[in-house]
Amino acid sequence: MKRNILVTGGAGFIGSHLVRLLVNKYPKYHIINMDVLTYAGNLENLKDIEHKENYSFVKCDICDFKKVKQVFVDYKIDSVIHLAAESHVDRSIEDPFSFAQTNVMGTLSLLQAAKSYWKDNFENKLFYHVSTDEVYGSLGEKGYFTENTNYDPHSPYSASKASSDHFVRAFSDTYGLPVVISNCSNNYGSYQFPEKLIPFS
Ligand SMILES: NC(=O)c1ccc[n+]([C@@H]2O[C@H](COP(=O)([O-])OP(=O)(O)OC[C@H]3O[C@@H](n4cnc5c(N)ncnc54)[C@H](O)[C@@H]3O)[C@@H](O)[C@H]2O)c1
Repeated sequence: MKRNILVTGGAGFIGSHLVRLLVNKYPKYHIINMDVLTYAGNLENLKDIEHKENYSFVKCDICDFKKVKQVFVDYKIDSVIHLAAESHVDRSIEDPFSFAQTNVMGTLSLLQAAKSYWKDNFENKLFYHVSTDEVYGSLGEKGYFTENTNYDPHSPYSASKASSDHFVRAFSDTYGLPVVISNCSNNYGSYQFPEKLIPFS
């Protein structure tokens, strides 16, 4: 089946790996990378696939609801993998407003655009939201989190991601939007912005 998959934040660290994987592995899928290119986004990360036929880049702020809605129409989006975020905890302590704006309002903008474009007919549709284990708070020396662990965010970053998770769940419960939320732990690897712990040390 042909699919038009919107990946947000595809010029960032994890997003660029995901976009490359999808573009190369699924030549019949059209991968649309929506990214506003903050300090963390870099199209050089995707140099090797930028001319592929099944890849498009759209420079767009996820908070720009009007433009986001138009992208759904222009590219007939049927799935979303949402990674775009302000992602650095230390920056969230300096500037919590940007984190609330992008992580909460940006996620809401995408949810509403998806719901509205899909016209409440959600067959073969999916909204995949990439969150973080930081919504569960801190672990001590022992123990682990599960999907049923209570939310206990402590930084403006984790509070904004927790809030975005609640909106995603609310769209599932209220409108029946098909969603998946994943809460992964820290990642590291190539194309990571140098300010993060492992590239920095
Ligand atoms: N890196 C990790 O270890 C980790 C761990 C758990 C969860 N996550 C989550 O995974 C996702 C990706 O993380 P990452 O480390 O690749 O982040 P990153 O900071 O490297 O990339 C974020 C991308 O989002 C884009 N972006 C930011 N604001 C935007 C906006 N308003 N509109 C459009 N694009 C915007 C940036 O330009 C950048 O390309 C995030 O949602 C993050 O919360 C990351």
